[in-house]
Amino acid sequence: MQGNPNDAKDNKQIIFLGSSHLQLEESVNFGTLSRMSELKYRSPKGVHDVLPVDHQYLTYIKKAVRHRARQAGYKRIDPPIFEERTLFERSIGTHTDIVEKELFAVGRKGDTETDYALRPEFTAGICRSYIENGMQELPQPVELYAIGPCFRYDRPQKGRYRQFHQFDFEVIGLSDPSIDAQLIHLVVKIFRDLKILDRLKLQINNIGSSEDRTTFVQALRDYFAGKERNLPEQDRERLKHNPLRLFDSKEEDTQILLRLAPNLEQFIGEESRKYHATLLEYLDELKIPYTKNPGLVRGLDYYNQTVFEFWDSSTGAQNAVGGGGRFDYLLEQLGGKPTPSVGFAGGLERIMWHMQEAGVQAPNKDLVDVFVAQLGPEAKKQCLNLVSSLRDLGVHTVGALGEASLKSQMRLADRFQARYTLLLGQLEVKEGTIILRDMAAGKQKQIPFEKAIPEVIKLIGKDNLDSYSITDKFGEFADPGV
Ligand code: HAM
Repeated sequence: MQGNPNDAKDNKQIIFLGSSHLQLEESVNFGTLSRMSELKYRSPKGVHDVLPVDHQYLTYIKKAVRHRARQAGYKRIDPPIFEERTLFERSIGTHTDIVEKELFAVGRKGDTETDYALRPEFTAGICRSYIENGMQELPQPVELYAIGPCFRYDRPQKGRYRQFHQFDFEVIGLSDPSIDAQLIHLVVKIFRDLKILDRLKLQINNIGSSEDRTTFVQALRDYFAGKERNLPEQDRERLKHNPLRLFDSKEEDTQILLRLAPNLEQFIGEESRKYHATLLEYLDELKIPYTKNPGLVRGLDYYNQTVFEFWDSSTGAQNAVGGGGRFDYLLEQLGGKPTPSVGFAGGLERIMWHMQEAGVQAPNKDLVDVFVAQLGPEAKKQCLNLVSSLRDLGVHTVGALGEASLKSQMRLADRFQARYTLLLGQLEVKEGTIILRDMAAGKQKQIPFEKAIPEVIKLIGKDNLDSYSITDKFGEFADPGV
């Protein structure tokens, strides 16, 4: 899933598998380059399988997100993966790259009435849901979080995929610098938990109120009047429809012209300046370092006031691992009441890449504790129960329970990298015993069959059992019959 995803279609399998590739080669002897080029089906361009080895990281990231979100009073929401296209157009902006070039249309063949698009992000869907479900009646602010796949028809390149995963926080219903500061602090804590905080730099800017921006946009238009011919075609369009998006342009000619253009800071009103100054004070209070970045505008139209991103601190590259800001007018634009809000989203793939670069080891929860090998119909029968009981107790158990010879089952146990093997042959069945083998030490002993489970648990350690309970610190599930 990671690695350098230059999406040259022909060598995609090799490139995308990244670290997963090794693991696959080891366990499946997946084959050579030439075999791969003969594959009948491959995943579509710019998307990739989330392989078990990737899940070690993703599970770890999601756990940190959920944990920190709950601590801060956020509740989970899952907006649908597709929505009406116009929702994204109205929210993100018709003349943004995400809407203009990157929306995935969803439709049914021949159906012209439904115009849906896959979600490129969560904010629009969550705001729609807030209005539709009457969440304005709840105590404000309403704090929501989401984790899941998003889709952008981007040109695939390093860290840029067509299906990727975000975690997203939205604090809806209140405007105060302390809310923005707490949100940023929450994100900082997550990056610290994941041990990548020192690789990142918080970039922050104030883009003012919508009135400030209207005046600024007019000033930009005035400045560019007569200079249109010097702009590349796409940027001429941007100037016509949404001059602020000129700041997203990578074109050198545009960048040169922008250097002398009026800057947004000059147009920001007193109230907005005060808000921002207080926010920065709060960040100082929380000891969160930041870089003021007057050029940071973000590629979505719904923002005002606070915008921020976390960048790679070593390269200074704008390949942000996450970004967010205030969107005080969006809910009103979508038909709700005026509802000031702020939010953030982080990209799981980019975070995972940083963790791997930093050498962070995500715990592997998929290790096999015990492999159960057997021979003969009676042994097989007994092993069915043995395997099941071990699993119930939280021992990761693989029991192939096929017809293979004991020797080849032992080889299999090795390839599964099981820590212990329990071996039940015809002789052991007769004697009421079982063989317990420590795979790393290469030592084995014969023990009474009924001792197999307690012995395994002693070796693994009670604390290391993967036991599962559907009750938690909040108590038993209520019995509906009571
Ligand atoms: P965004 O900056 O468009 O913001 O995306 C947030 C993060 O998603 C990016 O920083 C990046 O890590 C990840 N990301 C975006 N596109 C891709 C891609 N094609 N491939 C891999 N990762 C990607 C938003 O989406 C806003 N909704 C954030 C927000 C929430 N603002 C307010 N509330």
